Amino acid sequence: MTPHFLYFHFLMLPLLLLLLLCTTVTTTVSQPSPAPAPAPGPPAPTNITKILEKASQFTTLIRLFSITKVGDQINTQLNNSEDGMTVFAPTDNAFSALMSSGTLNSLSDQQKDELVQFHVIPSFISTSQFPTLSNPLRTQAGDSTFYNFPLNITTSGNQVNLTTGVVNATVANAIYSDGSLAVYQVDKVLLPMSLFGPHPPAAAPAPEPVKKAKGKRAADDGEADGTGNSSGAVGLRSELHGLMGGLIAFIAVYYL
Ligand SMILES: *[C@@H]1O[C@H](CO)[C@@H](O)[C@H](O)[C@H]1NC(C)=O
Ligand SMILES: *[C@@H]1O[C@H](CO)[C@@H](O)[C@H](O)[C@H]1NC(C)=O
Ligand SMILES: *[C@@H]1O[C@H](CO)[C@@H](O)[C@H](O)[C@H]1NC(C)=O
Ligand SMILES: *[C@@H]1O[C@H](CO)[C@@H](O)[C@H](O)[C@H]1NC(C)=O
Ligand SMILES: *[C@@H]1O[C@H](CO)[C@@H](O)[C@H](O)[C@H]1NC(C)=O
Ligand SMILES: *[C@@H]1O[C@H](CO)[C@@H](O)[C@H](O)[C@H]1NC(C)=O
Repeated sequence: MTPHFLYFHFLMLPLLLLLLLCTTVTTTVSQPSPAPAPAPGPPAPTNITKILEKASQFTTLIRLFSITKVGDQINTQLNNSEDGMTVFAPTDNAFSALMSSGTLNSLSDQQKDELVQFHVIPSFISTSQFPTLSNPLRTQAGDSTFYNFPLNITTSGNQVNLTTGVVNATVANAIYSDGSLAVYQVDKVLLPMSLFGPHPPAAAPAPEPVKKAKGKRAADDGEADGTGNSSGAVGLRSELHGLMGGLIAFIAVYYL
């Protein structure tokens, strides 16, 4: 009886010490705003070419990014902007389908530039944001007159479709996403209406005011809010508290 009891005390002493230690740890954790872990130096600048090389099957897009300097532009813009960027990357197969029909051969340098920029959105779009976007989307093409380069996105379930009015494409999968840059593989080259659409009759005036209002709203809605979600941290905290409560109850029962 007695040796058993002594043995128990031996065991309990370190446990009690551990408990004290843990309690101090929890108090530190539950403080309202503990300093976040310091960033480990400036991160290496994002390189869209490297990302596409790693994914393979994008050699044509890489070449176009290089010829038009849009690749460098994306890297620079990522470094200087808070909004991030999204790239829709057509595969080599998608380009070769167009090459054989000679569709891209007649483009001037500026038109090539517009075509490539049309695949770039000047904001980060996560997969979960696709259903919330307002059409038409603003692309990098056409500068401020993005009404000339409408790109619409529709979703149903996990399927994400893009339409330019000339082609319908599907997002095959996400190649890359780091919260600042998102790259999605698409099965078609996105041909903008203004370069490949039927030339509208000169007499038909576009309903400018309506389009303007819509475009403005689209741009506003397109702004991704960067609110962090700390429910994970809160959950961990309350779990720790629950654990400590259990331990205290356990020790109290045995010690008294
Ligand atoms: C980006 O990556 C490509 C290929 O890996 C490389 O040739 C190029 O120099 C890199 N650019 C920068 C700015 O590091
Ligand atoms: C990124 O931006 C910082 C400061 O804005 C600048 O010093 C740096 O040279 C830029 N890096 C690249 C690769 O553009
Ligand atoms: C997406 O496109 C596919 C055909 O490519 C079609 O079957 C599907 O209904 C489209 N979904 C949406 C949401 O537009
Ligand atoms: C894109 O969406 C806008 C707004 O819903 C619509 O007016 C326009 O017709 C759509 N364009 C295409 C090509 O689907
Ligand atoms: C794109 O899809 C829409 C509706 O889903 C359809 O009306 C249109 O004909 C399609 N366009 C092409 C070029 O396939
Ligand atoms: C945080 O994420 C959880 C689960 O993902 C969700 O239930 C909750 O509404 C989110 N809270 C905020 C403030 O976004």
